[in-house]
Amino acid sequence: MQRYLDYNATCPPLEAALEAQVEAAQQAYGNPSSLHWAGRNARRVLDDARDALAAHVGSESGSVVFTSGGTEANNLAISGYCATQKTGHIITTAIEHPAVLQPVARLEEAGWQVTRLRPSRSGAISADDVLDALRDDTRLVAVMAANNETGVVQPIAKIGALCRERDIAFMVDAVQVLGKAKVSLRDWQADFISLSAHKIGGPRGVGALIVRRGMSLQEIAPGGGQERKRRSGTENVPGIAGFTAALGGMNFTSLSRMRDDFETALTAQMRDVVIFGQGAERTPNTSMFCIPGLDGETLLMQLDLAGFAVASGSACSSGKREPSHVLLAMGASQEQARSSLRVSFGPSNTEQDATALVAELGRIRQRLRSMAGAA
Ligand SMILES: Cc1ncc(COP(=O)(O)O)c(C=O)c1O
Repeated sequence: MQRYLDYNATCPPLEAALEAQVEAAQQAYGNPSSLHWAGRNARRVLDDARDALAAHVGSESGSVVFTSGGTEANNLAISGYCATQKTGHIITTAIEHPAVLQPVARLEEAGWQVTRLRPSRSGAISADDVLDALRDDTRLVAVMAANNETGVVQPIAKIGALCRERDIAFMVDAVQVLGKAKVSLRDWQADFISLSAHKIGGPRGVGALIVRRGMSLQEIAPGGGQERKRRSGTENVPGIAGFTAALGGMNFTSLSRMRDDFETALTAQMRDVVIFGQGAERTPNTSMFCIPGLDGETLLMQLDLAGFAVASGSACSSGKREPSHVLLAMGASQEQARSSLRVSFGPSNTEQDATALVAELGRIRQRLRSMAGAA
């Protein structure tokens, strides 16, 4: 039996999103920039999607810039905003997604100064640490709304207030929060918010950057000037229609009970399990833990053989397995980081999936231990 428990990586598609994509692809096939009826049809679908997304995040239609996903939205906000500013200082965190860490590192190579805040052991960034790090030449603060690995939620509204008071741009990667908690440009006092469709049952390769009115932004791939000269390229109308059709369609909020029951059962079975971020506020579907002495990648492969799709805490970069930078920043040891697994539940999961996973982990541990003993 196959069980999908990797919703933070991506989600199975929602029926409504698939239908909207097919309909837009068949009926709104014009280029939305064309002036004829076919172009107008496509433009209408695009405008409706823009209105729907803006309403969902408490902003205005003009704030929505459709992109090819969360990665591009983050790059556009960071590189596109900083390109309009004098070289200065950026505050971000050590636990951001690479789609934030990498564009910030590029700016650092180009002469910007960067402060990367570390989280507490529970994985939370402190708003006071942001305050302490602010400088006269701080141009941008970039903090994710919730971490993709641990699910730990960050104090975004507090940080937003600090930045707004000082007129410093604030960017929030909210890719892991859409569908799991409220995303609000206004409540967060954010200037830029990055979103991705495939984390809520929409298509991969589609996302958006929400840009507060008046914020300057230079496009990063110049071209035909679409999206009000903020993101050139013919818009992916079917993908965008699929994105907004998925809004509100996946309910993650009721999953905290399943996640908590899973963690209780897992700890009861293996007393030495360490659950990361357990004491902090987390997105309701996410559990990251380590089983000491067992390699996360081996566990993942054994679980895969038994039909479970989960993630490990190590990322494969240039053929080399790197332990999770998030766990290391939280103070986990290299060994703990290498033996970690992430389970992220979704609406298709049942309590049975969680119970079966605990039982399978127990069997695998026993098997690996007896193999190690026999060797
Ligand atoms: C926190 C976070 N930011 C950005 C991204 C990148 O989004 P996309 O896959 O749409 O490029 C992801 C995807 O895993 C993510 O979890």
